[in-house]
Amino acid sequence: MKKILDLLSEEMGKAFEEAGYEASLGRVTLSNRPDLCEYQCNGAMAGAKKYRKAPIMIANEVALQLGDSPVFQEAAAVAPGFLNLRVSEEFLLDMVRTMAEEEKFGLEMPGKSKKIMIDYGGANVAKPLHVGHLRPAIIGESIKRICRYAGHEVIGDVHLGDWGTPIGMVITELQERKPDLLYFDESYDGAYPEEPPVTEAEFAEIYPLASTKAKADPEYRARALEATRKFQTGVRGYRALWKVIVDISKVDLKRNYDSLNVEFDLWKGESDVNDLIPEMVTYMKENGYAHISEGALVVDVKEETDTREIPPCMILKSDGASLYNTTDLATIMERMRLYAPDEIIYITDKRQELYFEQVFRCARKTKLVKPETVLKFLGHGTMNGSDGKPFKTRDGGVMRLENLIGETRDEMYRKIREGREMPEEEAKETAETVAISALKYGDLSNQAAKDYIFDIDRFTSFEGDTGPYILYTVVRIKSILNKYQEQGGEMKGLMFLKAGSESEKALEMALVQFNTMMMNAAEEKAPHRVCAYIYDLANAFNHFYHETKILAEADEDRRRSLIALLMLTRDVLETCIDLLGFSAPEKM
Ligand code: ARG
Repeated sequence: MKKILDLLSEEMGKAFEEAGYEASLGRVTLSNRPDLCEYQCNGAMAGAKKYRKAPIMIANEVALQLGDSPVFQEAAAVAPGFLNLRVSEEFLLDMVRTMAEEEKFGLEMPGKSKKIMIDYGGANVAKPLHVGHLRPAIIGESIKRICRYAGHEVIGDVHLGDWGTPIGMVITELQERKPDLLYFDESYDGAYPEEPPVTEAEFAEIYPLASTKAKADPEYRARALEATRKFQTGVRGYRALWKVIVDISKVDLKRNYDSLNVEFDLWKGESDVNDLIPEMVTYMKENGYAHISEGALVVDVKEETDTREIPPCMILKSDGASLYNTTDLATIMERMRLYAPDEIIYITDKRQELYFEQVFRCARKTKLVKPETVLKFLGHGTMNGSDGKPFKTRDGGVMRLENLIGETRDEMYRKIREGREMPEEEAKETAETVAISALKYGDLSNQAAKDYIFDIDRFTSFEGDTGPYILYTVVRIKSILNKYQEQGGEMKGLMFLKAGSESEKALEMALVQFNTMMMNAAEEKAPHRVCAYIYDLANAFNHFYHETKILAEADEDRRRSLIALLMLTRDVLETCIDLLGFSAPEKM
């Protein structure tokens, strides 16, 4: 199924041609005066000069050709030469039927299917997820789902930060508490402990403590760096502890991501490419890409056309230690070998933009990727508090993601209990589901690159441009459909009839934008397009709902046709919220 504007433009082009003008003048756009018309065409204005004719004359001639058009119900030429358009109910009916019958609502993506890797989430081992991890997780998850729906093969990778000093700090604190553990012994055989020497609860308590100590005490910090060096270089007892810490941490991270419906195909991390680094370094040196500068090994990545300073990409520090750069480049090398993706998309805070520019240039220059491989950075803005600064807890600290989710859930629960009769257990479960929609929709409805303000009261509201409003609409449709079935209504073999009212037509018009919206969302990797679409659709539905008797409709065929429209609306909404990474409860 084509984009609706393309179909309309085709029809309009024909009319221009028949009237003796160039078909390309027949471009139809959405109306900027919805009070006057649904669509418009300004081709007569554009053609006036070329054809040396008053635009209104051209518009009149074209309108005449459209008198019996099956697509346009009305084409009015108005001064000084616009064509104001309304589409016909038959045309809409045809599109709605196609949507209901075809897979993916008739979506046909142009272009070939690609293999895309998405690097998102940004979690680090031995550190709890905090509010800063919310955006890369939910934006990445949604883009992954959108690309998949659009027919691409997509692999999502969390790319754990599992090779850094936080782990060294935890080891140091363990050593402080349990100096007699055999892992600290040089002669330890390296076996993975049968009994983990630290419990999850203890672990949760250790990191913040170790981190505070390391900040305050340089000697402690030096020991943490030494412990880091030891596990990185493979001292056996330290490596065993490192693995224990990674495993415990992953359990906690998975639980957090699960609660947000964020699922990764790969749980790889920086550590996975450790063994590739020597090979990569040799390769870069031997091919003359890398050189020593002030003791460090670097690759120059600046280009003549640069209008800003792009520093060299550092591969190894002067003491031979690797950096964030190094693991990212080695990861690109590994990804090309194992998965050979056409495209790798990175989703992180936009403050890492320059860093990724360096890494991408370096990967291209050193030919770690093919010339046609797309490396894309999608930087997101920050989630701010009401003061416009990055979100903090009430006492000014960094808020844990878990707590943010918890607070949203509590507020949602309060609103649900306040507004309706619902048993406590059910209200709890519902609050959980709806809270995720509040958080995710509140975030994804903004363009990813922009900052936004976390407004718990607005995000959890059942009214306005919010997740709960969308879910409320889905639940409302489901409950009408349930009633219909309870009254013995058939769900199969339903037929669509032409729209019977303006609000029904408006609902159909909103529905048939799906195709266009999906193509744009997939093309631009833009979840906010999905949000804008379902908000319009939910509004159109609710307007229609308030004006229309559905179950009380006396005409059997009409009633069945309305039910078919409801089912389609529900399916489209549910598909879209799944693309955003949340789902609707049965009741709310
Ligand atoms: N763990 C990193 C951080 O906390 C983000 C990882 C992003 N992905 C990457 N390939 N560098 O900043």
